[in-house]
Amino acid sequence: MNITVIGRGNIGGGLADLWENAGHHVLRLGRDGGDVSGSEAVLLAVPGVAVEAALSSVVGIEGKTVLDATNLYGGARPPAGFASNAEYVKSVTGGTTAKAFSTNFASLFGRVASARVRPSNLWSGDDEAHDVVSRLSHDAGFEAVRLGDLSMAATQEGLAGTIFAISQSGLGEFVYRMAPPEQL
Ligand SMILES: NC(=O)c1ccc[n+]([C@@H]2O[C@H](COP(=O)([O-])OP(=O)(O)OC[C@H]3O[C@@H](n4cnc5c(N)ncnc54)[C@H](OP(=O)(O)O)[C@@H]3O)[C@@H](O)[C@H]2O)c1
Repeated sequence: MNITVIGRGNIGGGLADLWENAGHHVLRLGRDGGDVSGSEAVLLAVPGVAVEAALSSVVGIEGKTVLDATNLYGGARPPAGFASNAEYVKSVTGGTTAKAFSTNFASLFGRVASARVRPSNLWSGDDEAHDVVSRLSHDAGFEAVRLGDLSMAATQEGLAGTIFAISQSGLGEFVYRMAPPEQL
């Protein structure tokens, strides 16, 4: 696939590496922006408070499938009038939108390929995003687990605090797996 990552730091750069290793072509953009019109999927991986600035710095985003990996910390809120960053993204692009890759530690990306069992990657969003989220999760070493439609993106964004609390309560950075009983 032709993928653009907006944000080329821990998450954007880390996933770009994994996806390139899986055979995808990845364009990496930073705060200078660029043209995403040739992309089949766009990953948004900028600070949660920079989503408006990041989308305004790119051209060709209209109608694109966007996977939004942003989190909001410390009382930061989504853009005014929106329950989540992901719903704001959809209002800008009008395209298929998912909240994905927001609940996994980028620092562990390099070790996921050697995991005994694929860790889960929670996502929420449009039905139409199912196949691309499943494929790009798989190609990064994860298995996608759906949390719900885009109205659940705010709940997913709120999990960041829970994940940090777990991490800081003795476990450190971790992966997780959610699976049906037949996969025990
Ligand atoms: N790190 C994790 O483990 C993790 C896990 C899950 C979710 N997340 C979320 O993923 C997002 C990115 O985190 P990160 O750790 O990858 O951050 P990071 O390493 O600091 O990278 C941030 C990237 O965003 C770009 N950026 C900053 N402001 C921008 C703007 N106004 N317009 C366009 N691009 C801009 C930076 O551009 P330049 O390259 O030009 O500096 C940089 O490439 C955050 O929302 C974070 O909460 C992170």
